[in-house]
Amino acid sequence: MNRTKKIGVAGCGALGSIVCDALRDGIEYYDFVGVSDLDEPDFGVPNMSFGDLAETCDIVVECLPPKVVPALAKETLERDKDLLMISACALLLSPEINDMAKKSAGRIMVPSGAIAGLDAISALNFAGIDSATIATTKPPRGLKGAPYIKQKNIDLDEIKGNTLIFRGSALEAAQAFPANVNVAATLSLAGIGPERTQVEVWADPNAQGNCHDITVKGGSSTIKTSVANAPDPSNPKSSMLAGYSLVATLKKRSDKIVVI
Ligand SMILES: NC(=O)c1ccc[n+]([C@@H]2O[C@H](COP(=O)([O-])OP(=O)(O)OC[C@H]3O[C@@H](n4cnc5c(N)ncnc54)[C@H](O)[C@@H]3O)[C@@H](O)[C@H]2O)c1
Repeated sequence: MNRTKKIGVAGCGALGSIVCDALRDGIEYYDFVGVSDLDEPDFGVPNMSFGDLAETCDIVVECLPPKVVPALAKETLERDKDLLMISACALLLSPEINDMAKKSAGRIMVPSGAIAGLDAISALNFAGIDSATIATTKPPRGLKGAPYIKQKNIDLDEIKGNTLIFRGSALEAAQAFPANVNVAATLSLAGIGPERTQVEVWADPNAQGNCHDITVKGGSSTIKTSVANAPDPSNPKSSMLAGYSLVATLKKRSDKIVVI
């Protein structure tokens, strides 16, 4: 049986480049056939439109700005191909993607990204989850350009100490910070959903990186995880761990013993 799948990457910025490098080096059972980016990235494979990439591939890895994701999802799912999606916020902000997935033979897979503990949180669903919270702390520059920062006229340069910027549901957080709280969207999808998952966004000029503290309670368990990521050098909003989580997800197909 030929298990090899044709794979491509849409968006070759900070995270997509990590995936492209790993695929170019070789991941067993994947044939790296193309990319899609506005620039002309040099990974030794052709740069194509979303439609051509979806047509050529069995699986497409998404590493795009969230607002572009619905267009890629449409091209991929209409062709019954699989989508490995890092921009989890897009699933909250563009519910039509869920409808497309329901009609498609293709699937959407969301990796753990920049956080930890989703395996245990998925398991705890079976006992019932009472509460899920995530507090994300970033250096102020990591929140630059977010719709909420603009609407509230927040001067990020004026923040002197650790400051609570936002508190609300994961759905509200995705609308307020579409490029910053993918982790909250992923947590909500693994747990009790975007309306019930609570999110805090903190800006700390002394933060060395992007930190995510999660507390989930239910049944007879309390799950607490804390992840501190150095910002990606090419995009301070992102963490390299998110790129590695995509590569790890792909590698799990070929590992003979898989921890999931
Ligand atoms: N789930 C997580 O934990 C997590 C963590 C960090 C980042 N993210 C998300 O991952 C996504 C990628 O992050 P990044 O840091 O790599 O972003 P980036 O800005 O570094 O890269 C985005 C790439 O997409 C390309 N692009 C933009 N519009 C395009 C279009 N219309 N067609 C083709 N290519 C286009 C850009 O040229 C760029 O190369 C973002 O949505 C980000 O919010 C998720």
